[in-house]
Amino acid sequence: MLKVLSLSAAYDAQAVLRQVSLQVAPGELVAVLGRNGSGRSTLAKALMGLVPATGQVSWQQHELAGLASHHRARLGLGYVPESRDAFASLSVHHNLSLGLKAGASEALLAQAYDLFPALKKRQHTPAGVLSGGEQQMLSLARALMGQPGLLIADEPCEGLAPQLVEVVGQALAGLRAQGVAVLLIEQKLTLVHALADRVLLMGRGEIVFDGSAAALQAQAQLCQQWLDGPALKQGQP
Ligand SMILES: Nc1ncnc2c1ncn2[C@@H]1O[C@H](COP(=O)(O)OP(=O)(O)OP(=O)(O)O)[C@@H](O)[C@H]1O
Ligand SMILES: [Mg+2]
Repeated sequence: MLKVLSLSAAYDAQAVLRQVSLQVAPGELVAVLGRNGSGRSTLAKALMGLVPATGQVSWQQHELAGLASHHRARLGLGYVPESRDAFASLSVHHNLSLGLKAGASEALLAQAYDLFPALKKRQHTPAGVLSGGEQQMLSLARALMGQPGLLIADEPCEGLAPQLVEVVGQALAGLRAQGVAVLLIEQKLTLVHALADRVLLMGRGEIVFDGSAAALQAQAQLCQQWLDGPALKQGQP
């Protein structure tokens, strides 16, 4: 279980995360919604130890406060950052190999290629010349190479063609079915409806709603205040 209690973070003196508390259980997919600038990526970075933060964060029996990000990764946290993070001059295959957990079988690479055939075709291509969508797939595939127990994915579908969004959605659903805890930062409401067990809504660095997507949909005022556009609707892109 990921347990977060009163997590706060600031850039310079500007508070960006304010006393955020949340939990994600193994096999649960929790989506984080919110407007641009509401603090969602900062939440992901704070959980990964990439920005200084105060408060308590634990994963399984481990207290994470103060641990460096590579240490958190070793404890089972996987991260798909907002800015895709492939090594540009290295091939797709090399990038994926670097993501492999120590001692993990290379069979994981084959699984990634099954999941994302486009990456298989490009396996010898330097990551830097991939399209934006291919780089996003690579970033997700690389996180999967670490066999995370908790995956924090920051808008992994942003800018992807609808067929690829479907593929990523299936990959995330597959992880959940394997018992992985997933924290998904996402703007695509159809995907959130289809996938999320629970939805957190962030407004100015605070969690202003924690419940089901359907319950959020019923809160028109909250949606209007803290989400762009109209309230969540089933089937809305
Ligand atoms: N490195 C930084 N230095 C200073 N301010 C920052 C930095 N990164 C983010 N911010 C500010 O912190 C606030 C929250 O940013 P964050 O990236 O967490 O938002 P977000 O919800 O992920 O939004 P989006 O992804 O749509 O930009 C914003 O006001 C942003 O301008
Ligand atoms: Mg962001």
